[in-house]
Amino acid sequence: MREKIRYHLGEIQNFNTTDREELEQFRIRFLSKKGIITGLFDEFKTVAPDQRRELGLLLNELKNAAQLTFDDIRQHLEASVTEQKPVPDLTLPADFMDIGSRHPLSIVQDQIITIFSRIGFNVAEGPDIEDDWHNFSALNFEEEHPARDMQDTFFVQGRPPFLLRTHTSSVQIRMMEKTTPPIRALFPGRVYRNEAISARAHCLFHQVEGLYVDRNVSFADLKQTLLYFAREMFGENTGIRLRPSYFPFTEPSAEMDISCFICGGKGCRICKNTGWVEILGCGMVDPAVFENCGIDSSEYTGFAFGMGIERTAMLRYQINDIRLFFENDVRFLRQFRSAF
Ligand code: DAH
Repeated sequence: MREKIRYHLGEIQNFNTTDREELEQFRIRFLSKKGIITGLFDEFKTVAPDQRRELGLLLNELKNAAQLTFDDIRQHLEASVTEQKPVPDLTLPADFMDIGSRHPLSIVQDQIITIFSRIGFNVAEGPDIEDDWHNFSALNFEEEHPARDMQDTFFVQGRPPFLLRTHTSSVQIRMMEKTTPPIRALFPGRVYRNEAISARAHCLFHQVEGLYVDRNVSFADLKQTLLYFAREMFGENTGIRLRPSYFPFTEPSAEMDISCFICGGKGCRICKNTGWVEILGCGMVDPAVFENCGIDSSEYTGFAFGMGIERTAMLRYQINDIRLFFENDVRFLRQFRSAF
């Protein structure tokens, strides 16, 4: 009897299956009322008293092993049933994916960069925290120029005095200090001014600066470049008008208007009935600025221009409050989903 029990024990320990029918056969064979183990317990009744203890233990071991093996495999098979995923219904409509949209300022900035990159301008950036030299002095601002005033400029504590750049013209200086002409580049970025926040003004906004330096660059080149830009940006029938102006770093300086693209020049609310809208400042780089950057002003000439991205976007999309750009109201931002 001992040999029989040992034999079945080995059989049970080696048993495994993934088939329910085979597991059922196992149960019937070992654990049912007419199974092997019940038979062995019957046989146990005839065992001589001196062997009872040893064979009893062995028999119990066999019974437990059979039960354990059976429970174990059954549990396994049941778990794998619940793991089976239901077959997906391929006729159901897909979930709506709520993708975001690009910010209107990024869209307009990219449009400006794309237009100028077609005529060979590349892009560079400078730091938001600047020193006096790059933001003012090198750009030919007089020591007493009102733009340096605390009222306009945010200063950063420390020595030498640092400030938040008030315009991207500072990047012109950084570019010219480290590059030998020809230079043809755009400098987009954020600028800061200590102004009261209103629908028209904010203490931070964005500009794109342009700079072209080479031999024989003329005012005619400036004018033609800006006409090309205006037509690409605002439509092929756009006209431009240059009004004499003053900036410390350009001579001569001008402000550029475009013909009103809303009313076509007839006069409307956007152009305040003048037919023209101001779009940027520009001019020929002042020789003193070249000298400040170590560029020989008898050899090179150049032009520069700077425009506000918010202003351009407001005109382009008829947005009437600059604060909308910084409030992150998705109802506003969503409207630009298809704008690129
Ligand atoms: N920096 C000027 C401003 O912030 C804009 C400007 C005017 C930039 C004339 C230029 C320029 O490069 O030539 O108002």
